[in-house]
Amino acid sequence: MRDHSCGLIPETASGHEIWLAGWVHHRRDHGGVLFVDLRDATGLVQLVFSPEDPALFANAERLRAEYVIRVRGKVAARPPGTENPELTTGGIEIRVQELLILNPAEPLPFSLDETDTSEEIRLRYRYLDLRRPELQGRLRMRARIARELRNWLDSAGFLEVETPVLTRATPEGARDYLVPSRTQPGHFFALPQSPQLFKQILMIGGLDRYYQIVRCFRDEDLRADRQPEFTQLDIETSFLDETAIRNLMEAMVRHLFRVVLDVELPDPFPHLTYAEALGRYGSDKPDLRNPLELTELSDLARDLDFRVFREPARAPGGRVAVLRLPEGERVTRSQIDQLTEFVKTRGASGLAWIRVVDPESGAAGLSSPIVKFLSPDFIDGLKARTGIRPGDLLFFGAGDQATVNETLSHLRIRLGQDLGLLRQGYEVLWVTDFPMFEWDPVEKRWQALHHPFTAPRDADRPRLATDPGTVLSRAYDLVLNGYEVGGGSIRIHEPELQRQVLELLGMSREEMQEKFGFLLDALGWGAPPHGGMAFGLDRLVMLMTGAANIREVIAFPKTQSASDPLTGAPGTVTELQLRELGITLRKPVRS
Ligand code: AMO
Ligand code: AMP
Repeated sequence: MRDHSCGLIPETASGHEIWLAGWVHHRRDHGGVLFVDLRDATGLVQLVFSPEDPALFANAERLRAEYVIRVRGKVAARPPGTENPELTTGGIEIRVQELLILNPAEPLPFSLDETDTSEEIRLRYRYLDLRRPELQGRLRMRARIARELRNWLDSAGFLEVETPVLTRATPEGARDYLVPSRTQPGHFFALPQSPQLFKQILMIGGLDRYYQIVRCFRDEDLRADRQPEFTQLDIETSFLDETAIRNLMEAMVRHLFRVVLDVELPDPFPHLTYAEALGRYGSDKPDLRNPLELTELSDLARDLDFRVFREPARAPGGRVAVLRLPEGERVTRSQIDQLTEFVKTRGASGLAWIRVVDPESGAAGLSSPIVKFLSPDFIDGLKARTGIRPGDLLFFGAGDQATVNETLSHLRIRLGQDLGLLRQGYEVLWVTDFPMFEWDPVEKRWQALHHPFTAPRDADRPRLATDPGTVLSRAYDLVLNGYEVGGGSIRIHEPELQRQVLELLGMSREEMQEKFGFLLDALGWGAPPHGGMAFGLDRLVMLMTGAANIREVIAFPKTQSASDPLTGAPGTVTELQLRELGITLRKPVRS
């Protein structure tokens, strides 16, 4: 149908007659001459219809946005002064001699140039939305990233293996998507939250190095960086410790950024423990492009007369910390009030603040309603630890650790964004030494912070029985610009240790045998020491393309309510289908 692509016609084709096919992108009527921008997957080229051929011209006047056409025409240099430097083909145009309308298009529900179309409409008409060059560019970049990762892993001796989608529950902390079985009424498959157990079994099966670009399913609350089905680059290796695995993964990520973006990431990647990350940033996924940091004051605040600080400083699990903002004069009093409301929506009871006028003059050099409550020792300690300077604005958080970390880390993010403090580029970070467990106050039991197959540090093993809250794991997360882009761990490879950990998580021996018996059995037949990691491919592509959220790098994403406006999924099913599955709905559903 065509012998050239719109965006790739070389200037040397001038004078040649060519065939093109594509969509009418724009049509402009210029006093008797008709210009049409023709678009295909490679870009745009300008078509010119002159009135000299009345039949052809009349046909061209019927063209509307998104008509699909085929043309024959002569390539010509544009008249001087009419070149368009923004187009790859901006130096030429096609003087059309023959036009065939292959398919007309209805008037569009939105224009492809519009930037404020609602997401619901964009997703309902995704076939139109997909015609936008930006979205196509991101999907192309996604394919490139996947290709580079595959090539790198393949040359490093990793084998791509597929694992089942119809399987049993794999606990990664979210709700499962269930699929009823017809052949065994009352029984359900669970869609995998990750291939975690299968990749471990591949190691027990002796495959040594596995990877897979794989869909995972999690029924959880959605956010900008979360989808109910998303893609992992999933990896597992045998006989490597965590340092060796991290080094390998760093080399892969450095290679990826170098070849795809021409960006050189540091070698080695910086590294913080979980405790350090929470101490300095209040978060286990800090964005290091943001220069602001927290400083610990809990020990200094124990003897203050100020109850707001003293009580949390003395309480077990309490924290008092300060966030120092240099050049704080830019923040007005009414903005401080807004920030106070902001931290209150995240659970804080208030936001004490101090403006530093002269750090050398003790309390007299500080301006704030709370200065009268502070002791000289506290002020000296604050000065020594934070290195305060004139003009600084200090924000204080006091309360239980979780609330202080939650509020000050979000205050840090908000100030960084509002005041334009973020450095350009990419800041990468490993976070290690996570606790094995966190206490779930609602269910009143320990939960695995990573997943229940993560190994504890050898030195901490004795404390599993006595003080599980202090046991650290051999898990690691990779953080990029404030997003968790990957996580992994060394796994438990001894069946007794695995049983002990499952038991700590509140599982009886019978229950663990029923749910994970296949793994526990497999571990008993010569399981090699093994470990690995999984990257959130959508998040990685989002960051590498500069997209605002992961839906912009997925061809057919789900909405916030986990539905698909294009197909209308999820949908209802017939009574017959339900009967075959042995399912009765509690309440009949109207379709
Ligand atoms: P984890 O649960 O940390 O680990 O997941 C790995 C990575 O997957 C991405 N991710 C998501 N991306 C989009 N939408 C979601 N709903 C979503 N959930 C997770 C994140 C995350 O870092 N089996 C372990 C890995 C291992 O131990 O090897 C696992 O799945 O970027
Ligand atoms: P109050 O004694 O409640 O009036 O609080 C005195 C100051 O401390 C006010 O500026 C409050 O915003 C602030 N404040 C109250 N609770 C907290 C808290 N949990 N963390 C930090 N500042 C607080």
